[in-house]
Amino acid sequence: MIIAIDGPAASGKSTTAKKVAEKLNYTHLDTGAMYRAVTLFFLDNQTVLSDPNQIQHSVDLIRLKFLQDQTLIMNDIDVSAEIRTGKVTDYVSEVSALKQVREKMVHLQREIAKFQDVVVEGRDIGTHVFPKAKFKFFIIADVEKRAQRRFNEMKNKIGDINFKDVLLDLKERDKKDASRKISPLKKAKDAIVIDTTSLTIDEQVDKIIDIVNNKIHNRS
Ligand code: DC
Repeated sequence: MIIAIDGPAASGKSTTAKKVAEKLNYTHLDTGAMYRAVTLFFLDNQTVLSDPNQIQHSVDLIRLKFLQDQTLIMNDIDVSAEIRTGKVTDYVSEVSALKQVREKMVHLQREIAKFQDVVVEGRDIGTHVFPKAKFKFFIIADVEKRAQRRFNEMKNKIGDINFKDVLLDLKERDKKDASRKISPLKKAKDAIVIDTTSLTIDEQVDKIIDIVNNKIHNRS
């Protein structure tokens, strides 16, 4: 069974998807991490984004694998930490908008979900990758609240950052992710919206689990 969770950056998708997967004993698939890994590869190899041949060449060289504990391995190297750095975040919207990149990642995502139950999180999961997913959720939250969450998270890791910059970065990324030509961030018509602005992580997880259990056990 597939549970699709889409939504903008810092909406609480990742933590929610991870916990929902744990509670249901499903595999958690973080597709944003995959686009981040491709971005890291492109940066390391100085792939020119205006050159389709170079893009294809780089895409062909990338091998991605998630371990059981969600460690992401790219070409035999653990890239789980490096894909979260600022330089990757700055370029990921541009790289993830490229057709060749999306084609390969979507193919891989469908392969991973073929033989197991998964909670898949991203931007285009309910609309494009798994349009027939049994459950589709679209997680939203006020941009100020999302920026505050991201700011708190980064402050502990990086220290010297400023709230306004975090807010501007988020708005910029939202705009790019929602306006790109291929598979933009968009709510699927049949997705259930969960507004997490004033919810705790546990509350949003419980909401999803309740909806899933109710439907599976025909209680609604
Ligand atoms: O969820 P995240 O912030 O780690 O995702 C990083 C970027 O990857 C995000 O800016 C948009 C892109 N992305 C995408 O285009 N499609 C997905 N299914 C998941 C992420």
